[in-house]
Amino acid sequence: MVDGELEAFLSETRSFAPSSDFSAQANAQPSIYEEAAADPEAWWAQQARRLTWDVEPTTALEWTPPFATWFADGRLNASVNCVDRHVEAGHGDRVAFHWVGEPEDDTLDVTYADLLARVSRAAHALTELGVRAGDRVAIYMPMIPEAVTAMLACARVGAAHSVIFGGFASEALVDRILDADCTFVITADGGYRRGVASPLKAQVDAAVERCAGVRGVLVVRRTGQDVAWHEGRDHWWHEVVDRQSPVHVPESFPAEQPLFLMYTSGTTARPKGILHTTAGYLTHAVTTHYYVFDVKPESDVCWTSADIGWITGHTYIVYGPLANGVTQVLYEGTPDAGGRDRWWRIVERYKVTILYTAPTAIRTLMKWGADLPQAHDLSSLRLLGSVGEPINPEAWMWYREYVGQNRCPIVDTWWQTETGGIMVTPLPGITHTKPGAASAAFPGISVDVVDNEGASVGNGEGGYLTLSAPWPGMTRGIWGDPERFQETYWSRFEGRYFAGDGAKRDDDGDLWLLGRVDDVMNISGHRLSTTEVEHALVGHDGVAEAAVVGASDETTGQAIVAFVTLTLRADEDGVSHEEIIADLRDHVARVISPIARPRQIVITPDLPKTRSGKIMRRLLRDVAEHRALGDVTTLTDPSIVGVIDTLMGQHGNDDE
Ligand code: WT7
Repeated sequence: MVDGELEAFLSETRSFAPSSDFSAQANAQPSIYEEAAADPEAWWAQQARRLTWDVEPTTALEWTPPFATWFADGRLNASVNCVDRHVEAGHGDRVAFHWVGEPEDDTLDVTYADLLARVSRAAHALTELGVRAGDRVAIYMPMIPEAVTAMLACARVGAAHSVIFGGFASEALVDRILDADCTFVITADGGYRRGVASPLKAQVDAAVERCAGVRGVLVVRRTGQDVAWHEGRDHWWHEVVDRQSPVHVPESFPAEQPLFLMYTSGTTARPKGILHTTAGYLTHAVTTHYYVFDVKPESDVCWTSADIGWITGHTYIVYGPLANGVTQVLYEGTPDAGGRDRWWRIVERYKVTILYTAPTAIRTLMKWGADLPQAHDLSSLRLLGSVGEPINPEAWMWYREYVGQNRCPIVDTWWQTETGGIMVTPLPGITHTKPGAASAAFPGISVDVVDNEGASVGNGEGGYLTLSAPWPGMTRGIWGDPERFQETYWSRFEGRYFAGDGAKRDDDGDLWLLGRVDDVMNISGHRLSTTEVEHALVGHDGVAEAAVVGASDETTGQAIVAFVTLTLRADEDGVSHEEIIADLRDHVARVISPIARPRQIVITPDLPKTRSGKIMRRLLRDVAEHRALGDVTTLTDPSIVGVIDTLMGQHGNDDE
């Protein structure tokens, strides 16, 4: 659609009717919305029957705000729910994963029977290497089958995994390993990124040197690159795992056994270890995956294009889809590895039916042109999903037209690391969809949009997104910091979970997400805090002060713009500002991750500060987004904003 047409469409039609191809799952009468609303707790207890229990629970929610438990007296094993029970039901030959490596033709199909043998061997190996129920295990791996195996093997022996995104550097590993007291690390020699074998083990070596509690490191050989070896501490996966028995008798664990930690950025420099436990999380994962994606385990091929290093990978690659027993694609590489049509070749080859990805990826694919998807047979697709950031109507319509061929409904799903699973979404076959709207709370979920005082706002008005009742996948807290949990989520509005997002209901009552209202940035669907990046910048000895903002960006949603003042030494060293900027951008990428590399760094003589010394980031955001400046009169030096505005135009260090 060309520009004017889109506007016309949005103002006239504005919505697509529910697709009649999706009747079976959720369209029963009374609708699941009515059923769930009548008694949410009972509805979730009913959904929990999707799981296989060793001891069935007799309770559902126990709520001592802000701490909830679900199904607490039940017992189960998460890996049995994801693997064993499908084999026992006679589906051992069903493919669990079509694994697609980044190098062309590096593929492997793993059936549920294969996966059971793999997970069983790995569970034995972990036990042999001293991992026990209740321990924490860090996983730092590329998107290879062993990554999924490692997660499930931890779950099988009752150890909580803490997957750390392979793009993070050793600094981030140290923080996360120490915070959670991880005693064991599972990694690979390296991984592929655009044809280059990047090192992972070396990062682990550098990190573990500073983590005295780590007793063992298990290493998958993926790339064959040389690695340093610490005798006694390091173990090759192929030496220890492969010789184990493929039969492993699972133990059962309490419903509230910690399943995993997932570190995510808050509004401070220190990432938070978000804790998820077993049964409630798994119930949420399996139920949302079933309804939102309308899954048919016998025939669907699901592809969630996320990395397992993020919550989307945990819930909609590992736990939800595997507990539902579906077939998936697991792809190691970037969308352009081996050509910009790589994704479409994968969809065509494996007859993918359900594709779940992020707006930033859609916008990138859009830039590469509609002729690429059009050159491939995408007729297998029947449903499309979006997650991670607000999706702009243009990207939504392109996704619908060129990927979904005007046939596939799109579900725009809002949720967070903390919520464990999808919270706001259309349901195919039940709700209509609108380009850009996340639509409605999932059944059994209570969403409210409120004003500053916590009062619900009417249709057509904006406010803060809150969740007014606990749900099964809700985080059980921040690892080691119950006060921060209370403070961050439960103190802004009495008795409600404050998500940190702005939202509004339109005149039809449909929900639209409006982006973060705090200091959290969303870069290509990755969550980073402004303070985290500022912290990294001032950690460089050339930087005196730093202020970071997320500025809107056409492709990545938001991009990082940093404003820094230099130490005297740096300014007098005779190095050019261009060189300093390049060095600082690399520094941030090294200390945090390439995701955090600022799009632009502006060196300025001063930062805009109030008389009490507070940096006014709001004004910097105006500058970064080329907007008219707001009120500057409270600044000590109102002229500085104009100076920064001019400097901003001069440093065009916008090379990625
Ligand atoms: C933040 C959570 C959910 C898994 C991936 C990100 C933003 C997420 C949407 C959406 C608008 C969205 C929010 C949220 N977000 N999905 N469909 N529409 N915004 O998980 O890293 O925990 O980030 O991502 O701002 O708070 P996360």
